[in-house]
Amino acid sequence: MFLSRCFQWIRTKVTQRAERLLLRVLAVGPIPQHVAFVMDGNRRYARMNQKAIAQGHSDGFVALRRMLEACLRLEVRCVSAYAFAMDNFRRSPEEIDHLMHLAHDKLMEMSLHGQILEEYGVRLNVLGKTSLLPEYVQEAIRHVELVTKNNNKAILNICMSYSSQDEITTAVESAIRISLDNSEPEVCEITEHDISAQLMTSLAGSPPLDILIRTSGVKRLSDFLLWQCSENTQIHFCKAYWPEFGLFDFVPIILEYQRKRWGRS
Ligand code: FPP
Ligand code: MG
Repeated sequence: MFLSRCFQWIRTKVTQRAERLLLRVLAVGPIPQHVAFVMDGNRRYARMNQKAIAQGHSDGFVALRRMLEACLRLEVRCVSAYAFAMDNFRRSPEEIDHLMHLAHDKLMEMSLHGQILEEYGVRLNVLGKTSLLPEYVQEAIRHVELVTKNNNKAILNICMSYSSQDEITTAVESAIRISLDNSEPEVCEITEHDISAQLMTSLAGSPPLDILIRTSGVKRLSDFLLWQCSENTQIHFCKAYWPEFGLFDFVPIILEYQRKRWGRS
């Protein structure tokens, strides 16, 4: 028992060292400024491993933390994660309840002194129609956004109760309102740039989206960052279920980004 624990400890330490070294080598090349994740496959992962659905989502958070840390070590400036689509309100009340409690607990945990957001100087924003979320989750959002508002090294956008079509509609409304405030109604004109500037991601200070990754083998964008996916965004669909997604899935994606950037320059 003691020997097996020692062996496990040594194995973990060696793996951590190897991962850190790998990230340090990768960081020498061009690094994307903004990486987004569609964290799909939590329930299929749970079923495959005979776990409860709730456990699948909890393991999904562990994967988010793991990938956030990898991105921060690489000095990616902004990470966006699709944590709850507006459409997810159609799921069972039990599953929604679990996801809301998980979000509350993890947002509060991440806001604590000494945790990842403080360690790496990350400002956390929750993007989406937060008024649709339960009051206790809104309270946690206000708290974590306040505690991290002066962090300026990196940005984490947790997209909750998010829909890209809703985001674009709101951005168009705001752009029109601003234009009307500054000009006569008959000359009211809005450009792509005006709409872009009013997107939730832009208002949260996010740079252009370089890489979008969706796990679980599904090849859809599911109403996530539709406007932000420009001609320069690399889109990857990976087979792994989100809770299993790790560095060895992520590294080839970064290498491909670096290869394309070197090809361009
Ligand atoms: C999609 O998999 C995943 C979700 C709907 C929830 C994602 C949430 C987390 C990973 C934790 C979020 C953490 C915070 C801080 C809010 P699925 O349920 O669609 O699984 P399936 O595709 O196998 O059905
Ligand atoms: Mg799914």
